[in-house]
Amino acid sequence: MRGIILAGGTGTRLWPVTRSVSKQLMPVFDKPMIYYPLSVLIDNGIREIMIITTPREHDQFRGLLGDGSQWGIRIEYGLQERPEGIAQAFLIAERFLDGRPVVLILGDNLFHGIDFRDRTGGPEMTGGHIFAYPVVDPSAYGVVEFDESGHVLSIVEKPRNPLSRYAVPGLYLYDADVVKIAQSLTPSARGELEITAVNEEYRRRGTLTVSVLGRGAVWLDTGTFSDLVHAAEYVRVIEQRQGLKVGCVDESAWRAGLITDDQLRSLADPLTRSGYGEYLHGLLEWRTGTGRIA
Ligand code: TTP
Repeated sequence: MRGIILAGGTGTRLWPVTRSVSKQLMPVFDKPMIYYPLSVLIDNGIREIMIITTPREHDQFRGLLGDGSQWGIRIEYGLQERPEGIAQAFLIAERFLDGRPVVLILGDNLFHGIDFRDRTGGPEMTGGHIFAYPVVDPSAYGVVEFDESGHVLSIVEKPRNPLSRYAVPGLYLYDADVVKIAQSLTPSARGELEITAVNEEYRRRGTLTVSVLGRGAVWLDTGTFSDLVHAAEYVRVIEQRQGLKVGCVDESAWRAGLITDDQLRSLADPLTRSGYGEYLHGLLEWRTGTGRIA
């Protein structure tokens, strides 16, 4: 299974800040936003990832993340000329996907404590799979209604009267058909290829399933200034309590065995002044000492 991080968009809800800087490069506490979805993909066994950006911001992403080899993964880049919808990602990534199933994660969604490895089994993955997360105000999101066996009954975008408390987070798993489905879509009234239309097609075929992200899982949005502060505060609280970082790509790569201790050390060395590098050095020390951590 291959991964896509969609990191284009205009970020108008964060203007003027995002007029010159991509939302997904802005800090969420102590690291760029894109580190969070990237580490989720690595933690869940994805090793080949396409990052889709605007043409204007591409160089900055490449400057930050490179080709992924420093983390033992492969990162490719795709360009989205205009923000013409989330489902356009599958058209941009067609060649990269090369007929494989895909996990798409939105670059501004922050997840913590989620494990979908049992669903990334490989070419045998069929249909589509989405997640459901309870929120206080589901009307700001796509809202999903489903039966006891996890089959989706309906998904309604930003409903006035939501039929459930479950919002659909920006994390979607699809089989190889998704490219053809995206090719068959026509733009919605707001001029976008809607991800809801992709899901609707899988639902119509009876192959769209959903699982609820349990109470221990965290999904936060970072679309507004308040969301950003909440997300940063969440990360700060957890990190300062546990002494373990959230969304630390270098740590994810090392724990997955993609890089050696020596490689982690050389990633850490230039980063010591911010504390990030000290943390990475600490991982190596804890592992060999009595304070070994999971
Ligand atoms: P949104 O938050 O819906 O859009 P935005 O990021 O442009 O922000 P705003 O609403 O403030 O103008 O996008 C959700 C995520 O999906 C975000 O990471 C950007 C990404 N995205 C794209 O990369 N291309 C697109 O065409 C769309 C619609 C979203």
